[in-house]
Amino acid sequence: MKSLPQAPGPIGVFDSGFGGLTVLDELARSLPDADFIYLGDNARAPYGSRSFELVYRFTLEAVERLFAMGCHLVILACNTASAKALRSIQQRDLPELDPARRVLGVIRPTAEAVGELSSTGRVAIVCTPGTAASGSYEIEIEKLHPSFRTYVHACPMWVPLVENGEHDGPGADYFVSRDVREALEPDSDIDTLVLGCTHYPLLQPKIEQCAPTGVKVVRQGTIVARSLVDYLRRHPEMDARITRGGSRSFYTTDSPEKFDRFASEILGYTVHASRITLP
Ligand code: DGL
Repeated sequence: MKSLPQAPGPIGVFDSGFGGLTVLDELARSLPDADFIYLGDNARAPYGSRSFELVYRFTLEAVERLFAMGCHLVILACNTASAKALRSIQQRDLPELDPARRVLGVIRPTAEAVGELSSTGRVAIVCTPGTAASGSYEIEIEKLHPSFRTYVHACPMWVPLVENGEHDGPGADYFVSRDVREALEPDSDIDTLVLGCTHYPLLQPKIEQCAPTGVKVVRQGTIVARSLVDYLRRHPEMDARITRGGSRSFYTTDSPEKFDRFASEILGYTVHASRITLP
């Protein structure tokens, strides 16, 4: 077992890039006193078109770094990492790294919430090619809501649009309208369109313009935040290992200047990130 800091520490939040900030925003609103560290692997984003092995290796490196920074609990605020790396990290790596630390993802809480959100039981999920290929959403929703039908649609261009700051430009219109149409095409009873990638809330105004009335567009931030609050209530031993100074620290593997501009826009306050290298 590696030697890791044992004193209480912040909650770690990880994403391949900027998308997880949309989740951090909601987590921090729900747990305003908790300390948070955000790590974006912007230098290696997007993860969505990478192999299982690579996403697993990159995600594990990030989790190990957050543990070394004092986190006992890490949220993978990334569907691709949750789909491709979470199970291996939980089953294979945590027992060796430190069985008392926890890594949680975003797919399970989203699949749970879908049951309350859809009245028709017909749900479309838009996500990265990696999340789509993993079959994770179909598997989780089928387990929890066997009568539901889930239609998963990969949108390979959406994360690159966001990571390149083109999400509110006219160039995004074509890809958003094409993919929303294709995602909803298989079943006219679909009433819920889940943004199954944490980058996609940045495209939400355009997505909502393209979605027909009657189709709810659902982002994950509030769902994941509610699930974390519930988790900490059920696990007082983990709750006690979180420091409560209300601080937010930011780390990126790419340019901190670009990160600061983007993060400050998403979060609505000034962010000063530090650059780190992984592993
Ligand atoms: N935010 C990540 C997700 O939720 C994007 C993955 C990527 O880098 O392609 O899947």
